[in-house]
Amino acid sequence: MNPTSFLSPQRFLTGITTTGTPHLGNFVGSIRPSVAASRLPGVQSFYFLADYHALIKCDDPARIQRSTLEIAASWLAAGLDPERVLFYRQSDIPEIPELTWLLTCVTGKGMLNRAHAYKASVDKNEAAGNDPDADVTAGLFMYPVLMGADILVFKAHKVPVGRDQIQHIEMARDMAQRFNHLYGEHLVLPEAVTEESVALLPGLDGRKMSKSYDNTIPLFTPREQLRKLIAGIVTDSRAPGEAKDTQSSALFQIYQAFASPPETAAFKQAYDDGIAWADAKKTVFERIDQEVAPMRERYHALVADPAKIEAILQAGAEKARSVASPLLQELRQAVGLRNLASSAGSLPKAKLAKTAAPAFKQYREKDGKFYFKLLDADAKLLLQSQGFESPKEVGLTIAALQKEGVAALPGLQPVLQAAPGVRSDELESTLKFFAPGTQN
Ligand code: TRP
Repeated sequence: MNPTSFLSPQRFLTGITTTGTPHLGNFVGSIRPSVAASRLPGVQSFYFLADYHALIKCDDPARIQRSTLEIAASWLAAGLDPERVLFYRQSDIPEIPELTWLLTCVTGKGMLNRAHAYKASVDKNEAAGNDPDADVTAGLFMYPVLMGADILVFKAHKVPVGRDQIQHIEMARDMAQRFNHLYGEHLVLPEAVTEESVALLPGLDGRKMSKSYDNTIPLFTPREQLRKLIAGIVTDSRAPGEAKDTQSSALFQIYQAFASPPETAAFKQAYDDGIAWADAKKTVFERIDQEVAPMRERYHALVADPAKIEAILQAGAEKARSVASPLLQELRQAVGLRNLASSAGSLPKAKLAKTAAPAFKQYREKDGKFYFKLLDADAKLLLQSQGFESPKEVGLTIAALQKEGVAALPGLQPVLQAAPGVRSDELESTLKFFAPGTQN
């Protein structure tokens, strides 16, 4: 078994920045594929509201709060099941900013200089003859590191994103690699996943649907408003009866993103047969509304009950922290943010830097259950868990071991086994690494 197949092969994670109102492009490019992926068996999904990211773009507190509510409601209305997935708000997870700092310290400034979003601002300033960093916050500059922490803190394998985000995932890989190189194999290298066919939905003007082009169709706009907006999608001047081109038609591409292949084939036939633009728009409107109407109803019910959404997010944060907090404990140890009474404190400095740290490895087996094991600094197996029903139980068990050290072992007897031949003093000294204060 190689180290990645050993871990659960399917941990999906994606975030959505809580600015603005979700539009059809967000739905097709992010929400819908994520919700579908979250329903696959053998997949563990993390979906979160990236409200720290929102602060980079928005300094209006009421808008931040409103968007968080609307976006949470959108994902839930689109079928995300908070019992099945981890659904949480970024700012409820203090381990994220904590990891952001650890990553900041291993991230090359030069790499951040090359990040598209930052570079675009610099290029714009230079073109205008301004100082290159005029109006650029350090938040914008650090954005990829925060995003790296979002992903790495949960050891995500796959990150569904729009193509504009691929560079950020590559940067997260780079940070993980650099961290692992310095401190041992603690972080998982994530991969971007883009849905090739529909990742980029055109907007009203034919360019990519995006808030920055002001060409969006809000996902849960009322039915009549949806009809009006679709009527406003750009077309060419071909008259009824004239064959129409599907390739260059934003309308066609939008239809395709919602329709089945046979429906799309029929629509292509209608284009060939010279359907009038007004009729084509009616077809597109009815097809999208058919898809959206039931979600729209759920959405309005949810937005009207913010306390319910808040409770869902709190429960999600608790689950998420049970995963993130043991990792942060491990990373703090790995980088040397340690209890001073820890025995490692007496190691020579040069050796300390190169010594790999003991680690808890969490993974999922084909039986669908969640497991962990404890390896010592030489990657020798010390403890092996039984299968747990949820990652939360794994997180809680690891947290107990980290907190109480060997004292926790008797109570964990039924779910934990020492590897054959492991001596109790080995176990004790390794666990002390995580819980240096414990005496036993
Ligand atoms: N930057 C992403 C966007 O604008 C949102 C995001 C924040 C994200 N953190 C993430 C996406 C982590 C995937 C993984 O779309």
